[in-house]
Amino acid sequence: MSAPGYPIGILAELTHRCPLQCPYCSNPAKLLKANTELDTQNWLRVFNEAADLGILQVHLSGGEPTLRPDLEEIVSALSARGVYTNLITAGVNVKQERIAALKDRGLDHVQLSVQGATPEVTELIGNMKGAHEKKLETARGVREAGLPLTLNAPIHRHNIHQVEDFINLALELDADRLEIANVQYYGWALINRTQLMPAWDDVMAQVDLVEAAREELRGRLLIDFVTPDYYAKFPKPCMGGWARDAFMITPDGTAMPCHAAHTIPHLVFDNVKDKHLAEIWDSSPAFEAYRGTDWMKEPCRSCDRREQDYGGCRCQAMAIAGDAAATDPACSLSPLHETMLTIAGQTQSKEAPADDFTYRRIGVNA
Ligand code: SF4
Ligand code: FES
Repeated sequence: MSAPGYPIGILAELTHRCPLQCPYCSNPAKLLKANTELDTQNWLRVFNEAADLGILQVHLSGGEPTLRPDLEEIVSALSARGVYTNLITAGVNVKQERIAALKDRGLDHVQLSVQGATPEVTELIGNMKGAHEKKLETARGVREAGLPLTLNAPIHRHNIHQVEDFINLALELDADRLEIANVQYYGWALINRTQLMPAWDDVMAQVDLVEAAREELRGRLLIDFVTPDYYAKFPKPCMGGWARDAFMITPDGTAMPCHAAHTIPHLVFDNVKDKHLAEIWDSSPAFEAYRGTDWMKEPCRSCDRREQDYGGCRCQAMAIAGDAAATDPACSLSPLHETMLTIAGQTQSKEAPADDFTYRRIGVNA
């Protein structure tokens, strides 16, 4: 199937370097080294092509994007083309002056990851002393610069008891939005699934708590809630549907439909160094592989929801069913749904959570 129209957004991983080592990082297990990263000229050319293509927003991510000294230049270039820019940062080494400078260059929004609502949990998950206080400073700096702020809290067994604290933290920091995002188990999170999977009761309690808070704080704090896949009845339309309105570019220029697409072994990816973005969007083999609904097998093929959730997540189907064209096992109609629940049941626990993580580090899985 050819491209359904024009894409709206791009997630640009400017680098895989990062001062934190979160064990659920969405970057691939084999992280790219600094010497493979696209240079400034290539990124500027690609973003120009993106603007020509009608892209409305670019999420500048990593790793830690502020480690790129050319971030200001990139933000300026995007802003000059009228593209909305969102900086996704761990916020541990970002000076107030840098935030103000980025705002002056046209930055529109900052999304700050929060690993814990207390220093102990933040330091345990990020594997960095003093990270919590640095994050709070960054959050305050963002608001002082007059930029809108989203806190993103990935939830797992070590911080699921802090959901209420995350909500209070977001209010205290004057955030506009809080994302309570239950960890998705691929990449580093799959490696650490046993240490991260929360207990069923805790998940259910969290769902009720978030629903009540959303209602109570309506108009004051927007709370986005990504429900845990392993407990869902129907899957989410991952990335809004495969190559449907967004895609991502890795630090070395590989264009992928989603951040875990490299876990599907037969896919062939194009690189922005070799092809124009419009050509990649239209006809990259990896983009074409699961676009639309023609590739679907039963039960998705004849299901009424196939154009709502697009069969869920291809990467999760690959991880659990061993077939990226299978129905996402998060779906209750999947023949492997029970298997998924069994995996959840085997790995979840009320006992003191194990913290023998395989921390995200460049070179660990090289
Ligand atoms: Fe979605 Fe496929 Fe499940 Fe239907 S069978 S709800 S299309 S994942
Ligand atoms: Fe790849 Fe969901 S992460 S389709």
